Amino acid sequence: MCGIVGYIGDKLADSVLIVGLERLEYRGYDSAGVAVIEEGELIYRKKKGKIKILREILEKNPVGGNIGIGHTRWATHGEVSDENAHPHFDCNKKIAVVHNGIIENYIELKEELIKKGHIFSSTTDTEVIAHLIEENFNGDLFEATRKTVKLLKGAFAICVISEKEPDKIVVARFGSPLIVGIGKDENFVASDVPALLPHTKSFVYLKDSEMAVLYKDKVLFFDFDGNKIEKKIERASVEIYDVDKGDYPYYMLKEIYEQPEVAERILNDKLKGDEIFFENLNLSKSFLSKVKRVIIHACGTSFHAGLVGRFFLEKFARVYTEVDISSEFRYRNPLLEGDTLMIAISQSGETADTIAGLREAKSKFIKVLSIVNQEKSTIARESDGIIPIKAGPEIGVASTKAYTGEILCLYLFSLYLGRINYVVGEEEFKRYLKPLRDIPMKIRKILSDTSFIEELSDKYHKSKDFIFLGRGINYPTALEGALKLKEISYIHATGYPAGEFKHGPIALINPNMPCVCISPKSEIYDKMFSNIKEVAARKGIIISVATEGDEKIKEVSKHVIYIPDIIEELSPVLSIIPLQLLSYFIATKLGLDVDKPRNLAKSVTVE
Ligand code: AGP
Repeated sequence: MCGIVGYIGDKLADSVLIVGLERLEYRGYDSAGVAVIEEGELIYRKKKGKIKILREILEKNPVGGNIGIGHTRWATHGEVSDENAHPHFDCNKKIAVVHNGIIENYIELKEELIKKGHIFSSTTDTEVIAHLIEENFNGDLFEATRKTVKLLKGAFAICVISEKEPDKIVVARFGSPLIVGIGKDENFVASDVPALLPHTKSFVYLKDSEMAVLYKDKVLFFDFDGNKIEKKIERASVEIYDVDKGDYPYYMLKEIYEQPEVAERILNDKLKGDEIFFENLNLSKSFLSKVKRVIIHACGTSFHAGLVGRFFLEKFARVYTEVDISSEFRYRNPLLEGDTLMIAISQSGETADTIAGLREAKSKFIKVLSIVNQEKSTIARESDGIIPIKAGPEIGVASTKAYTGEILCLYLFSLYLGRINYVVGEEEFKRYLKPLRDIPMKIRKILSDTSFIEELSDKYHKSKDFIFLGRGINYPTALEGALKLKEISYIHATGYPAGEFKHGPIALINPNMPCVCISPKSEIYDKMFSNIKEVAARKGIIISVATEGDEKIKEVSKHVIYIPDIIEELSPVLSIIPLQLLSYFIATKLGLDVDKPRNLAKSVTVE
């Protein structure tokens, strides 16, 4: 995924572009660049590395101009290099393009263009777009761009400027998000809302196969056939605070600490007294009562939330539930019948594999419910119904508040479905709602004193390997804890089902390997306790996550992180918090960039 921005107005374009790119840096940060038109001339700066490098270059060697486009890259085609940084240009550097997505047919297009004499200076797919526009240009940049996008296969959100027509930015969207920001005598375009918020809260969300031409004083909208279309201007519900770090050193820490408020917001939004209420479910009770099978699919952290959700759906709603990784689901030709409901889980709502899985289901007339944080995203728009997580923008690449939000939404939906199926009676329903209301306070309690977890990060931040073990509903917690650690500290970490550990992986245990054992109060506590003993017998370093008051766990643990007492079903929401903090403190102890880990991006919008 990459971040693109564009500006036209009276301000100096480069300052607007740089700030916009910094607000989109979570989308990718391998390289960055801007192109502006200054006194009729197209000029640019671009460089491998994070945006701060580009900012330094612009401070040393500034550009003027009141129209420009910018890009921050997560490399897909073409290595990370200065040449492959966007913007990309035509042969004469009169046309500049920035692009988010993947052009799947770029090789054949490139071969054709080379035969026509075009000279390429990068190994990216994007550069093909600039040369195609040059090839199609007959004095009308919009028409040249429109003809070009009709030739492209894959996903793209592009911004185009040219010194031949210095009064406009032409943009197009297919498969990657693009939002137009409407200002007063100035207009903006960006991949995501945070880049626009300092300037405007009036947005137009482009849909697939839509284009726009941004002038200083107006914006015109078209479809890919060139027909003018009317678009609705929407007001943003996001506040600038939501996308600022505030006093936190990193977005990830801010978002860890936002989890009590997120839980409260979910409960306030979806619990009306003792009734569960979903505003945009759009799935009738009569339809839901006939659902006999649920397929959940997602990627990464959202997949782990789905694994927790399976426990809820099978326990509360008694529906057969399977959980799949989206990139596997979309290619296994899944069996999908009329009584199946798909649940797609995604924070960004733009994950390519999850979108593809959703479309696979839709092609087989299966209804899709998505649990999604970005309510204007592709997944949200293409689902039959949505349960918005309402966690607010999650900027840190490592997902935290969205994860606990996804679990709480799955818990509520499963109880809702259980009521419809008459599986969950009135008393049982209320019994399971009560501990839910305690969640915000119990998360706050964990967050109120993190000193012990900081001490553990001091002790173990130089470890080369970690193992995370969990059972039952906390097996996903082990997977999620391992993912958090490896993606921001680069320490090798693996999550296993504790009962499986003796079937081979236990050979890994050694006196230098911390083994995090998630073992809160549960019906299978004794089984988990035995598994921990197996590890302790082989001199592993045991760090247990256990329920307050559990003295027995000390017999087999070197360290114990306590969490407040909670019913087993909701223990994943609490037991992950110390693991989020542990990974955060270890990564910062190692001096790493927690919000922008190497090789990663906030949403993977390519296959
Ligand atoms: C989580 O910390 C990772 N950044 C990653 O696994 C992420 O959960 C995954 O890419 C799915 O993203 P989504 O929820 O936006 O679809």
